[in-house]
Amino acid sequence: MNVFMTLDDLSSKGKIVLLRVDLNVPMQNGQVSDMTRITRVLPTIRELTAKGGKVVLLSHFGRPEGKDTSLSLEPVGKAVEHALGKTVVFVNDCIGDAPASAIAKMKEGDVLLLENTRFYAEEEKNDKAFSAKIAALGNVYVNDAFSTAHRAHATTHGIAGILPAYAGRLMEAELKALSNALDHPARPVIAIVGGAKISTKLNLLNNLVKKIDTLVLGGGMANTFLHALGTPMGKSLCERDMATQALEIIETAHVGNCKIILPVDGVVAKELKTGTDVETVGIDSIPQDAMMLDIGKGSVAVITDELCKAKTLLWNGPLGAFETPPFDNGTTALAKIAAELTAQGKLVSIAGGGDTVSALANACVDKKMTYVSTAGGAFLEWLEGKDLPGVMALMDSALDS
Ligand code: 3PG
Repeated sequence: MNVFMTLDDLSSKGKIVLLRVDLNVPMQNGQVSDMTRITRVLPTIRELTAKGGKVVLLSHFGRPEGKDTSLSLEPVGKAVEHALGKTVVFVNDCIGDAPASAIAKMKEGDVLLLENTRFYAEEEKNDKAFSAKIAALGNVYVNDAFSTAHRAHATTHGIAGILPAYAGRLMEAELKALSNALDHPARPVIAIVGGAKISTKLNLLNNLVKKIDTLVLGGGMANTFLHALGTPMGKSLCERDMATQALEIIETAHVGNCKIILPVDGVVAKELKTGTDVETVGIDSIPQDAMMLDIGKGSVAVITDELCKAKTLLWNGPLGAFETPPFDNGTTALAKIAAELTAQGKLVSIAGGGDTVSALANACVDKKMTYVSTAGGAFLEWLEGKDLPGVMALMDSALDS
């Protein structure tokens, strides 16, 4: 387990707490369309305010180039205020006089939100002077944004080198769940990795096969492995130029004693659209003019057997084109089985990554896994075995204290 300070080590009464959260949430028509990241940081905000802290929220939103008012955090602040059930004062800058004077007026238990930190290029450059300007606004720093921990930015990394730095409750929970899954898991460990391309998940796959017992591949990336092994894939999504890397992963898995499970059948169609003619075929019989768009029932049965033998599941990526029914059937069937095994106490199930969470929500089991990470990129980098700068900064701060 990582060693860092938590809210248990912080007496926040009367202190100005700079709290880094990830309010990079999806919006539709000016409204937050998925509240998950907001609801998951509420316990930290509530704990700090209940103990008399003055909480100053810091976050990025989107990827603005300079001050782009369409990426202001103000509407997100309204959603936080509503969810929290108490006033969240919004300040339209994150450095300088405006935040300083708003903070000076804060009382114990108040909450304030500063404008998008990425309105300044210095944020992403992890600029020392910029970090110092933000740090000067507070007394202590709490990072509750695991989902941005893979970024070495001023508000995820720089400030932790200036102020005493603590992990918030969400950061703590994410790290505990992930470390339980990969560092000292109940074995056998199975990972389901899906998604379109292996080129974006090469490091992840190479790291995983050294650590887990069984790797289930699905989605477009399984097609690349099947192609590399000589299976004709018709018009399926397939990175033919990645065949060598796919074979190397199979070899590393073999050396590491990790079993690889590939689809034994597939649901094929000539076009990716709801209502199109579909057919389930054995994996060696994919028609030349069709695409494999989901795993078939035979594959679901094989993977179910493996899930029943496992004690820990890590899931990243859907197994088919789940956004377009009926090509969500394979992913949904397995998500329900994973949820059922979890409910029976037989499986610790951990999932993460944007598409994965949507696919689990589509199967109505996103609340039934042991742990669903709020992170996309950070979850993937953690699966790759990388050190996350936001977490390293918390650990360094604990060492210095
Ligand atoms: C995310 O949504 O994954 C985080 O907020 C990080 O956003 P970024 O990829 O723009 O750094």
